[in-house]
Amino acid sequence: PASATESRPGDLAVGGVPLTELADRFGTPVYVLDEAEVRDRCRTYRNAFPDAEVLYAAKAFLCRAMARWMDEEGLGLDVCSAGELELAVTAGFPPERMVLHGNAKSPRDLETALRLGVGRVVIDSPSEIARLAAAVGPGGHQKVMVRVVPGIGAGGHEKIRTGTDDQKFGLSLTDGHAQHAIARILGRPQLELTGLHCHLGSQITSVKPYLAAVRRMVGLMARLREQHGLVLPELDLGGGHGIAYRPGEDALDLTSLARKVRRELAGSCAAAGLPVPRLVIEPGRAIAGPAGVAVYRVLSVKRSGGNVFVAVDGGMSDNPRPALYGVRYAPRLAGRHSTAERARVTVAGRHCEAGDILAADAELPADVRPGDLLAVPVAGAYHLSMASGYNLVGRPPVAAVRDGHARLLVRRESMADIRGRDVGL
Ligand code: LLP
Repeated sequence: PASATESRPGDLAVGGVPLTELADRFGTPVYVLDEAEVRDRCRTYRNAFPDAEVLYAAKAFLCRAMARWMDEEGLGLDVCSAGELELAVTAGFPPERMVLHGNAKSPRDLETALRLGVGRVVIDSPSEIARLAAAVGPGGHQKVMVRVVPGIGAGGHEKIRTGTDDQKFGLSLTDGHAQHAIARILGRPQLELTGLHCHLGSQITSVKPYLAAVRRMVGLMARLREQHGLVLPELDLGGGHGIAYRPGEDALDLTSLARKVRRELAGSCAAAGLPVPRLVIEPGRAIAGPAGVAVYRVLSVKRSGGNVFVAVDGGMSDNPRPALYGVRYAPRLAGRHSTAERARVTVAGRHCEAGDILAADAELPADVRPGDLLAVPVAGAYHLSMASGYNLVGRPPVAAVRDGHARLLVRRESMADIRGRDVGL
């Protein structure tokens, strides 16, 4: 990962800018995004999947600059709310290269998508068919896909597994709900079904479940051709490509994924006598995650119950992932060279909750002290996009670094922002 390299001993830098400088200029906590790393990751995808449509899953992290980079790198966008859609459009992102997801799309989501001209809407429930058809109107036209639950369990944590029938997304293949919904869509002339979609889960590090998904989805495509004479031009396999959060952890091998999926798709389609559909993929984490670093300031260090608690000025309000999924991070001391031996410490957040622990088993120099900076690598995905207003600490800013220069992309949430929404007294 981009993440922090050492410019001088102990002085970590991202994109050629020392973290000390970023902390001085933007304050802490601050999220630092390495633009070159984001773009590199987009190019890695484009090169590995030259014939596929690559959609960046905006839920991982979105701001207008990010949307613009995706556009410039030739990616589309997976959005799942009117908010994500509108923000990207205000950055000049072409709506026709966006796909709208969601298991519970609000009237505003659908209205915004249709008004702005979103490329495809992914239908997730039977009731959505009639709602969408009505919103499109009798003379209108909207491309859609159907989210199919293929019955395959995969993903780094139970809360982010979406390929099995016991979770809330999509329409089951096993129970026939997907086939039923497709028949109903075909009865709506204003809805054009362009393909099938599935998303197995997130933080998947093996290629195998994707190959199983290809087989199941092609099986369904073959049945649709038999039953309805339908040949679908697209197959969207979703995202979920796993990354390493700590040194030594496994990441999904994209080259192997691309090669094996292409081979499986060609083989399964040939066996079924189907033309090979255009592949769509939706990586989020694997593009944004490793390109981001969170920088915190240590506020207190104390011993308690055999632990050393190193408490920083952020926590579960900017990174809920350790609390939600038990994810383990590897924070590093930044901005200072220490020759002290390494000690096992608990990096705690500042929130009023015992579960607000950022890293339960961090290895840091034993002389870590208040005023030090800590860098948490691999912080670009599902941190700020899941940030909350807990304890009214204000959400951190995002700075982009590139070629030794930094610029602010998203400013810190101020007391004026917080006070401004409070209109009740
Ligand atoms: N496509 C669909 C339809 C999705 O629901 C998701 C993620 C993605 C693509 C992108 O998945 P990725 O490539 O980023 O794994 N908050 C959790 C992750 C939730 C993922 C939700 N859907 C976390 O922090 O791990």
